Amino acid sequence: MKLPRSRRRAAALIVLVSALILAAPLFAAGNREGSLPRRLEIFSWWTAGGEAEGLAALFDIYRWKYPTIFLINATVAGGAGSNAKSVLATRMQGGNPPDSFQVHAGHELIDSWVAAGKMEPVTFIFRDNGWLNKFPRGLIDIISFKGEIYSVPLNIHRSNVLWYNRRIFTANGLVPPRSLDELDRVCQILARKGITPLALGDNGIWASVHLLESVLVGTMGPEKFKGLWTGETRWDGPEIRAALRSFARIMGYVNSDHAALSWDGAVQYVIDGKCAMTVMGDWAEGYFKAKGLTPNREYGWAPFPGTQGSFIMLSDSFGLPRGAPDRDAAVNWLTLAASREGQDAFNPKKGSIPSRTDCDRALYDEYQQSAMDSYRSETIIPSVTHGAAAAEGWLASIQDIMAGFVCDLNVDKASVSLAQAAARHVR
Ligand code: GAL
Repeated sequence: MKLPRSRRRAAALIVLVSALILAAPLFAAGNREGSLPRRLEIFSWWTAGGEAEGLAALFDIYRWKYPTIFLINATVAGGAGSNAKSVLATRMQGGNPPDSFQVHAGHELIDSWVAAGKMEPVTFIFRDNGWLNKFPRGLIDIISFKGEIYSVPLNIHRSNVLWYNRRIFTANGLVPPRSLDELDRVCQILARKGITPLALGDNGIWASVHLLESVLVGTMGPEKFKGLWTGETRWDGPEIRAALRSFARIMGYVNSDHAALSWDGAVQYVIDGKCAMTVMGDWAEGYFKAKGLTPNREYGWAPFPGTQGSFIMLSDSFGLPRGAPDRDAAVNWLTLAASREGQDAFNPKKGSIPSRTDCDRALYDEYQQSAMDSYRSETIIPSVTHGAAAAEGWLASIQDIMAGFVCDLNVDKASVSLAQAAARHVR
């Protein structure tokens, strides 16, 4: 049935007026100070598959809860914050902080931004919501300073994971190696068949340090590794040299274009069957899943050889910089990140496990459930590559040394330099 033109005009007018009435609160809120709509700028380095989806899931909830706030996804690409951290530093030093930013729990948070007096405590978020006992005590400890909590931990990641292409392993009758010697044998078999054994993407040198931390734990065990960062384990002892020798051997099995490749590029090599394995934190799980793969079908996992029983951990957290442009909106963001709802939306996509202890296990896949069990029962070790074990300055020295080592594989030179760096930084 066709309405006469005048009726159609009237109908259109009614629709327009109703839309304006419905939207009125948006304009009112946006114009609170007579200015532009309110904005919330969230700064992170989550741009790769899995990372981006996890962040988007959180953003969706935030938009639904606070429809008048315009979200700005301020990302700086580069795994492990390799580029983002320096951009953030410039902004913080210039008095231009985002509303909230990603920062690793532990030394990266406390020794830099908290020590510099640039962060507000967020203990009240935990206290006001009754969440102080919903997070592991050990985690709360590493985000605290002088009795106050300084960030909201969104997740727990595991660093020491070996991921492998199941089709290649099955076709070659291989099982995941359990020791560095077994790793060597598996690599030899694959190399003889013309398959590049290990994918590495260290266009950001952090990925080599990431591999090194697993090799160190696999060589010296969890307690000695922890002692490296407290001064209890010597850096000029035989284990460091043994670990560097193992690392050098592993470099003989990696893709020749590793220095031009990113971490997610390396995971993609495993998916494509260009390489059989890669060593990466379990954000790789998020990447596999973002590409439509299923754990234990196309890809498998195991602790890095020799690190069984150890869980090298890190946690992505968000903080509240002093001078956040919209503090209220930022507090709402942090509250969402700390909530069960937020964590159960983000982590299943990210590959991590929730940092809260009361999340819904059924929402997590087989890999993640195994990580939850490991986190509960294994020895927890702080990751150095991802800000938990040592101050940024020390990590930067290690990265510089590794940048040289992956090129010259000179064990003597690297071990002397690592010991010198430790002497400068250990407290
Ligand atoms: C880590 C971070 C993870 C993941 C990874 C690669 O430092 O904790 O969440 O994003 O970098 O970018």
